Amino acid sequence: MEQTLSIIKPDAVERHLEDEIKQMFLEKGFKIVKEKKIQIEKTEAELFYQVHQTKPFYNDLCTYLSSGPIVVMIIEKENAIKENRNLMGATNPKDAEEGTIRKKYGISIDKNSVHGSDSVENAKKEIDFFFKD
Ligand code: CMP
Repeated sequence: MEQTLSIIKPDAVERHLEDEIKQMFLEKGFKIVKEKKIQIEKTEAELFYQVHQTKPFYNDLCTYLSSGPIVVMIIEKENAIKENRNLMGATNPKDAEEGTIRKKYGISIDKNSVHGSDSVENAKKEIDFFFKD
């Protein structure tokens, strides 16, 4: 069993899509191991997205992630990291395939409704970031 971090982003929480998105995970056989609804400071978003710090969209991305409540979840399944990325769909919702979360709910490349870890190493880091007690 593998674990990964999923975030339901402010655009989706604002539109009350949490339950529908969680249902999509459950239908694909994911177990939601831990979850919490929080709002983070911009400085925390900057740390979380540190890997993107040289990108031109970094500042807007951090402003956005800290702009409203988010739901952070540890989700578990065999091959969870890859399976989650498949279920989320392409980063830009306009490129995402039918049946994916971003195709169904994403608004734009920024407001793309969900985040998921992209590697084993980052899944560990991102889970620790939000759930280390
Ligand atoms: P996420 O999976 O959370 O990881 C980084 C985020 O940056 C990505 O989703 C997008 O929402 C956001 N982003 C904004 N602009 C871009 C871009 N040009 N390319 C990739 N990601 C972008």
